[in-house]
Amino acid sequence: MTSPYAALTTSPEWQALLACRDKLQGSPMKALFADDPERATRYFIDGAGLSLDFSKNRLTDEVLEALMQLARSRKLEERRTALLCGEKVNTTEDRPALHTALRNAGTNTIVIDGQNVVAEVNTTLARMDTFVQEVRNQSRTGYTGKAFTDVVSIGIGGSFLGPKLVSEALQPYQSSGLRCHYVANIDGTEICETLAGLHPETTLFLVQSKSFGTRETLENSRVARAWFIERSGSEQAVASHFMAVTANTAAAQDFGIDPDNVFPMWDWVGGRYSLWSAIGLPVALTIGMNNFRALLAGAHAMDTHFQNAPLKENLPVVMAMLGVWYNNFWGADTHAILPYDHYLRSLPDHLQQLDMESNGKRVNLRGETLEYQTGPVIWGGVGANGQHAYHQLIHQGTRLIPADFIIPLQTHNPVATHHADLFANCLGQSRAMMTGKTLEEAKAELAASGASEEDIEQLAPHKVVPGNQPSNTLMMKKVTPKTVGALIALYEHRTFVQGVIWDVDSFDQWGVELGKQLGQDILPRLLQSSTTGEASDTGTDNLIKLFRSANRP
Ligand code: F6P
Repeated sequence: MTSPYAALTTSPEWQALLACRDKLQGSPMKALFADDPERATRYFIDGAGLSLDFSKNRLTDEVLEALMQLARSRKLEERRTALLCGEKVNTTEDRPALHTALRNAGTNTIVIDGQNVVAEVNTTLARMDTFVQEVRNQSRTGYTGKAFTDVVSIGIGGSFLGPKLVSEALQPYQSSGLRCHYVANIDGTEICETLAGLHPETTLFLVQSKSFGTRETLENSRVARAWFIERSGSEQAVASHFMAVTANTAAAQDFGIDPDNVFPMWDWVGGRYSLWSAIGLPVALTIGMNNFRALLAGAHAMDTHFQNAPLKENLPVVMAMLGVWYNNFWGADTHAILPYDHYLRSLPDHLQQLDMESNGKRVNLRGETLEYQTGPVIWGGVGANGQHAYHQLIHQGTRLIPADFIIPLQTHNPVATHHADLFANCLGQSRAMMTGKTLEEAKAELAASGASEEDIEQLAPHKVVPGNQPSNTLMMKKVTPKTVGALIALYEHRTFVQGVIWDVDSFDQWGVELGKQLGQDILPRLLQSSTTGEASDTGTDNLIKLFRSANRP
């Protein structure tokens, strides 16, 4: 089969976009707005409770059409159907990627390898519902009969970032009195600091690991189990306090978790797409199953929008293609996620794994090395804090940094004029990115302030802001279970669309294996349990010696 990947950069659709870019060089966004104020309404779309203003982009109708032509040339609509119908789009692992089935309760059947997965999903949701209710109504207690007060979720990557994001995002909906703690890192400080404040009789542990083979999670769980047994004096009581969420029930059982305490996951759900599964248990325990089901419903609403909305009115498609536009035609190496909402402060962390572990790839589906850029560096942080940290570089640096501003129209916590102030900051930043400040404007500003001619000449160049920096503004009425579900699902589909354009497998992550393995090779030499071990490079060998001398038994 001839590889179509080569066709990408020589395709007529790609060439048309190169011509569009050249044409736009002389038309900054400021001029586009002046010539066509109506763009503000033309480039504004809604879907699943979210609204997207994408008018502050290097975009004309011609560019938008050309971007959609590129999407069609990459058979996006066919690949979208394949994703949603459970075809094996994860080609290197020969699996579907059916995170959408986790939130599609209304569907009767989705068959994978002869199995109707919807039945399994619904059975697991029902089990979650019962478990959550029992813990919250205190009919399920610890080994002394005391109600649970604390939940410790032990997991990393997709078994951590998604649940943590949603726990924080839906803080206003926490109604159980249960405190939720997340432990991810193999840095012992995290598990030690978490356990320090807890009591075994009222603590519930969730071991969250799709593979049940992730060393960080297993080592932390072993420490937690030992702590529990040592403090409670009862190994038998482990059964009442340790649950597992995994696709590897046998390994969970070997670890000492009762099979009845294992919630299943499936290999057709990637870790970074799994918060909708029982991996979401820590969230469901704290906000209740009704709110968890609302989260699922919000994501399903975005799935439906993604499936049905015309490409130019399709939030994931428009955002994805704008990302391709800057990544592949304007040389942007990064993309900033700027949530202007305290509850969404961990969104960039989750999207880093979602996007970079999905599209940080260098070969296409046929294993051929790619000669064009794929996934960008995803970074960001909560606004308005970022304005006092990295916005300087966005405004006056030498790089193109497209940004997504994300902000609710209403706050959960009205106080003084704070929300209007936050919103003004958000709009001020996207406007400054777009309009900038010319040398003439800087000089006039300095002159109006009474600066001397000499000072004006010296200082003005330092006050110029080039502008023409693109941004999207994504809004919801309020941060709720439904809008949070839709927001995360939006970025899942945005990631998928870009993977289709770049012809990569967005659902595997072979790149994480080497570092893990080399770390395991080094570990015995650090533990002083082995002085042999294969010598590595002299740099690493030197650092091993330093660690050994600093940590002699
Ligand atoms: O980073 C590699 C990875 O496999 C992620 O894809 C995954 O979310 C994380 O490690 C944790 O994996 P598990 O849930 O199997 O412990």
